[in-house]
Parts: sequence; C-alpha cells; structure tokens
Amino acid sequence: MAYAATSERTFKSGGRGRTVLTDTYGRTATDLRVSLTDRCNLRCVYCMPEEGLQWLAKPDLLTDDEIVRLVSVAVSALGVTEVRFTGGEPLLRPGLVSIVERCAALAPRPRLSLTTNGIGLARTARALAAAGLDRVNVSLDTLRPEVFIALTRRKRHQDVLDGLAAAHAAGLAPVKVNAVLMPGHNDDEAPDLLAWAIEHGYELRFIEQMPLDAQHGWKRDGMITAGEILASLRTRFTLTPEGEDARGSAPAERWTVDGGPARVGVIASVTRPFCAACDRTRLTADGQVRTCLFATEESDLRGALRSGATDEEIAGLWRTAMWGKKAGSGIDDPSFLQPVRPMSAIGG
Ligand code: 5AD
Ligand code: SF4
Repeated sequence: MAYAATSERTFKSGGRGRTVLTDTYGRTATDLRVSLTDRCNLRCVYCMPEEGLQWLAKPDLLTDDEIVRLVSVAVSALGVTEVRFTGGEPLLRPGLVSIVERCAALAPRPRLSLTTNGIGLARTARALAAAGLDRVNVSLDTLRPEVFIALTRRKRHQDVLDGLAAAHAAGLAPVKVNAVLMPGHNDDEAPDLLAWAIEHGYELRFIEQMPLDAQHGWKRDGMITAGEILASLRTRFTLTPEGEDARGSAPAERWTVDGGPARVGVIASVTRPFCAACDRTRLTADGQVRTCLFATEESDLRGALRSGATDEEIAGLWRTAMWGKKAGSGIDDPSFLQPVRPMSAIGG
C-alpha cells in the first residue's frame, strides 16, 4: 500500500496509526511542556493581576501518578524526548522532586528541565539534580531589587538570586535566565543583565512580551521588540549571529557576545514567530493537551484517564489533537484573538 515507504509513520488523515506527534504541516512534536500548577508566588505585571487568579480546584489538577502516566505515554509511545516542567510556579508543587525522579526512570529517558521563578530553588536544587533534573530556566527581569518589586509585586529578589546560585552549584547546567523587558520598568537594563549573566556563567535570553496576561493589558505598540533589545545590547557588546543552523527548532535566536564563548538569545515570539519549526506539545495542569500557547482549543486527556482509557487510547487522543495543530500562532494577524486561558494556566 501507498504508505509502506513511510513504515511506522503512516500519515493517515485524523492522525491515527503514527508513533510520533506529527501535524498536517509536517512538524513533529518531541518537546513536551507540562504545567504542574497554575498558582504562583509572584504577580508579574505581564502575567497576572495583583490579586491573583481564580486557581484551578485541587480535584481538577492531574495527580502526580496521572502526570507520570501521561509523560510515560509521551516518551514511550509518541516520540517525546524533552520534558519541561512549568507552571504557574512548578516549585509550588509538593510532589515535584518525586515527579522528576519517576520521569527520569522512564524508558527511553527524556531530558528533563524546569522553568521556574527561582523562589525556593536554593532549597531544592540539589534534590532536583539528584532526582534527575538536567537543567533549569529561571525568570529574572531585573538586577534592581526595587524594580523587581514593581514588576513582580513581591519582595523576593534575593530569593531568586540565591536560587540561581544554587542551581549553578548543583550542576543544573546550562542555567538559563529568561528576561522580559517592560517599558518604564526595566527597558534600560538589557546590557546590565547581559554583563551580569556572563559574569555568573548564566545564559541569558530575552523574551518579547506576549499577549498572554490574564488582564489583557498587552499592546503591540507598548512592547519592547527584539530589534530594540538587540540595538540596546549593541551599545555595549559586539553581537555575532549564530545562524539558522544553530537555531534548529529552538525558539531563541542566538548571538555570540564579544567573540564568544558567551552568548545571548532573543525569543521574538511576536515580531519573528518561529511557528514553522515548532516542535512543542503542551499539557495543562488540569490535563488538557494544547498544540500551542496561543491555541484556542484543548483536548481533554484527564477525562480519558479518569474513565479508564488505555495507554494506546490516550496516545491516540494525543496524536489526533496534535494533528490539528495550526500553522502559526496568528499573533502577527490583525484578527488575532488572545487565548481564553492566561499563560500561568497554560504553562509557560
Ligand atoms: N510574555 C512573555 N513572557 C512571559 N512570561 C510570562 N508571561 C509572559 C508574557 N506575557 C515568561 C516568564 C518566564 C517564561 C516562562 O515566560 O517570565 O520566564
Ligand atoms: Fe509567576 Fe511566572 Fe506569572 Fe511571574 S510570569 S507571575 S513568575 S507564573
């Protein structure tokens, strides 16, 4: 039959019969983001309002066992090779170390990483590394404690710095730092952040502010663009592009700094979307598959799990969901609609 040449990868409509998460645009998702909670101990202005959000109810969250089961299906039946734990703030999840340990024991073993705001990492970095975590991304937007308070509405700057140092000491390398620049707060800090990151051996990446805040406060003309970030960095550093080959499916475009080996990344999700090379699939803390941060639809795996679905049935639902992944986020289209769920509920 006509599909024989592609053996296991039979690209039938509806997405059945494949052993990887492909879509109709020929992309394969191998990078799974798992949100462990929608809660957070910060209130970043680009993410959520001061009073917080209506958090998911405990019974709606996947249990630790359910998370490990879904990750197991992803790596053993769907070709996922990278698993990133996110939130909200994933360090707020009591079972995190054990979830990491159980995922590290899966075959084939996925690479495991964590995106965190760093609060509490000083306490848990060593245990996480021992459990099998490979690396961390820590969010830090400013070196100035008072600006940190204005941006996050919490006095936790030193906790984040301590968390970063502990991650570095625990060998969770490369320790990456994510920074979002906000006009009137930290838009003058790009060169200082880069000098500081290089000095500490952290890899800095700037992320363009995306329309994912719960308050719907994002404005296209109010965001700092990748072009502006690079211009600001070039006032102090010589940046040399690493090139498309080095980028692969990674959303960050990278530059070597002053001839290397230090480098800096910029994730230009708004002005230079990287959807054509996207290799991601996402699972929300309440067990919904999302094909994209900006997707408007979700597929319910929790319901299937709780009504007794087999691993093969879950894999089938996941494949079908990903088969419907749209070509792009649509963020650059004037008719773009922000997803109903904010980033903290989707998983960053
Ligand atoms: N735009 C860009 N980045 C964001 N983050 C959270 N909300 C937004 C947003 N609206 C960042 C966090 C973290 C990463 C997961 O995403 O700061 O570093
Ligand atoms: Fe918390 Fe991250 Fe949102 Fe900041 S951006 S409030 S650290 S979930």
